[in-house]
Amino acid sequence: MAKGKGECAESPAGGRETMSNCDFSGTRQGSDMQPEQFWELGDYATVGDRWADAARNLAKETVLPGHRVLDVACGQGPAAIAAAGLGANATGLDFAAGLLTVARRRADALGLGVQWIQSDMTAMPVPDESYDRVLSAFGCMFASDPAAMARELVRVCAPGGVIGVLAWLPDSPFGSLKPLFGKYLGGPGGPPVEAWAVPELIRSTFAGLPVELTTRVDTVDVVWDDVDQALDEVSTMVPAIVAIRRVLAASGRWPQAQADLRALFTSGGEQTSAGFRLPVEYLTTLAHHR
Ligand SMILES: C[S@@+](CC[C@H](N)C(=O)[O-])C[C@H]1O[C@@H](n2cnc3c(N)ncnc32)[C@H](O)[C@@H]1O
Repeated sequence: MAKGKGECAESPAGGRETMSNCDFSGTRQGSDMQPEQFWELGDYATVGDRWADAARNLAKETVLPGHRVLDVACGQGPAAIAAAGLGANATGLDFAAGLLTVARRRADALGLGVQWIQSDMTAMPVPDESYDRVLSAFGCMFASDPAAMARELVRVCAPGGVIGVLAWLPDSPFGSLKPLFGKYLGGPGGPPVEAWAVPELIRSTFAGLPVELTTRVDTVDVVWDDVDQALDEVSTMVPAIVAIRRVLAASGRWPQAQADLRALFTSGGEQTSAGFRLPVEYLTTLAHHR
C-alpha cells in the first residue's frame, strides 16, 4: 500500500506492523522517513506543554546562575528556556528542526539568549566536559543503546557537574502506552526506555561510569478540559501515536485501541472542577559526576 509523507506503511504482506517499524523512538525500519522527521508528526510542542512543568522543575532544582547547561533532546525547549531564565548559559539540542524552531521562537519572545544545536543526541558535537548541568526530560530515554547514551551524557558533563534525566515510570499512564499499543502491533518493541525509568536498571545504564546516582519518583499532573480532549490530543499530537493510529485505522483496529486508551486514562485520572487531571509518575535521576 502506498504511504503518504509521515505515514507508517502497512507491511507489504498485509501482516501486523511491529513496534520496531512504527515505534516511540522514530526508528522505523523499512521506511524512508528519517527519525527526526518522525518527531515532526502531530504537534509535540503543543501537547508536550501539558507536562512541561516536569522539565522546568528539573532546571529549577539543579541550575544556578552562570551554569553552562545542556538540554539534551530539548524538543520545544522547556528545560533550556527555564535554565536561561535562571541566569544560566543555556543550550538546547535536538535533531527535529521544527521543534527547535518553536523553542527558538519561545526563547526569543522572552528575550532569553539560548544556543540551539540541531544534532543527534547520541553523538553530540560538543567538547568533552563542557557543561555543568546536562539535563534530559523524556529525551535520552529514546536512545536505542542506553549505555552508550549514558557515556555520551557523562562525556559532555564537567567533573563536579550533574546530569539530570527524567523518564516515565513503566506502569504510569504514559509508560503504559508502549505495552498498550504493543498488544496491537505484535510486541512491545521500540527503544528500551525502561533502562531510564527503573532504579535498578538505571544503575546498569550508568555502570562503570564516574557518577554517584540518586533516584526518586516524581509526579506531574497533566490537565486537559476533559478526557475527550486528552484522547484527541494524544492521538493527533504525540508523534508515535499519530503514526500508530494511522496503521491501526487502516486495518480497522484503531477503535478498540482507542477504547483501551480511554480506559487507561479514565482509570488513572479524575474529572475535577479544573478539568481532567491525569497524574503521571516519572523517575528523576541525578547523576553527580565525580
Ligand atoms: C518526548 S520529546 C521530549 C521533549 C522535551 N525534552 C520535553 O521535556 O518535553 C522527545 C524529544 O527527543 C528528541 N529526540 C529523539 N531522539 C533523538 C535523537 N536521537 N537525537 C536528538 N533528539 C532526539 C525528539 O526530537 C523530541 O524532541
